Amino acid sequence: MSLSHIQFVKLVLFVVCLIPATVLGWNFYHDQLGANPFEALTRESGEWTLRFLLATLLMTPLRGVLHQSWPLQLRRMLGLYSFFYACLHLLTYLWFDQFFDWQEITKDILKRPFITVGITAWILLLPLAVTSTNSMMRRLGRRWKHLHRSIYLIASLGVLHFLWMVKADLREPLIYAAILLILLGYRVTKWWQKRAFSIAARQ
Ligand code: HEM
Repeated sequence: MSLSHIQFVKLVLFVVCLIPATVLGWNFYHDQLGANPFEALTRESGEWTLRFLLATLLMTPLRGVLHQSWPLQLRRMLGLYSFFYACLHLLTYLWFDQFFDWQEITKDILKRPFITVGITAWILLLPLAVTSTNSMMRRLGRRWKHLHRSIYLIASLGVLHFLWMVKADLREPLIYAAILLILLGYRVTKWWQKRAFSIAARQ
């Protein structure tokens, strides 16, 4: 893909990724989010955070399958959108669920395991967003790659958060868990193949 072509794709992706937030905002404003619009806001933004995390993780396998480099050029934007939706999600919780009552928030984080897991995932996302720039990438060198591997843990915590939250119907979080397993399984298989290849090459 040429430079101008990928820049066009990035621009389209930037706008497309804003659609869920715009639709949510529109429906909220026009009172179209059902009986409990605040809960709907929290839930929807949570799901979009997870979807963007998985979309970010999809880019490496996509490059491998298509033998093209462009998926990697979209990875950072998808990751940053995941952080954007995570911030929206956290904000709806702090505002509409807890009314910025910091004492209650601290109690809730300590008391409910799914909230503990959610806040841990958000805290771990923070350094990834801060170090996502080219200059940070250069400055951190090899450490950047190690740091950004925590995306695997963050996505796993996101799925665990959802699984822990749901009380009866586990189907939806299990679908996300299955997708995550496939995406992580791809990486483990590749790593294993590379290792076997380098051992064979040394013999
Ligand atoms: C990477 C970070 C996170 C991810 C991927 C994530 C994802 C999700 C998902 C998928 C849901 C379920 C949506 C549904 O029911 O359809 C959810 C719900 C929820 N999350 Fe998160 N979340 C994250 C961080 C957080 C944080 C930091 C908090 C607050 C401290 C939080 C609080 C909640 C609450 C209160 C609900 C709704 C519970 C309910 O309606 O009973 N999440 N989240």
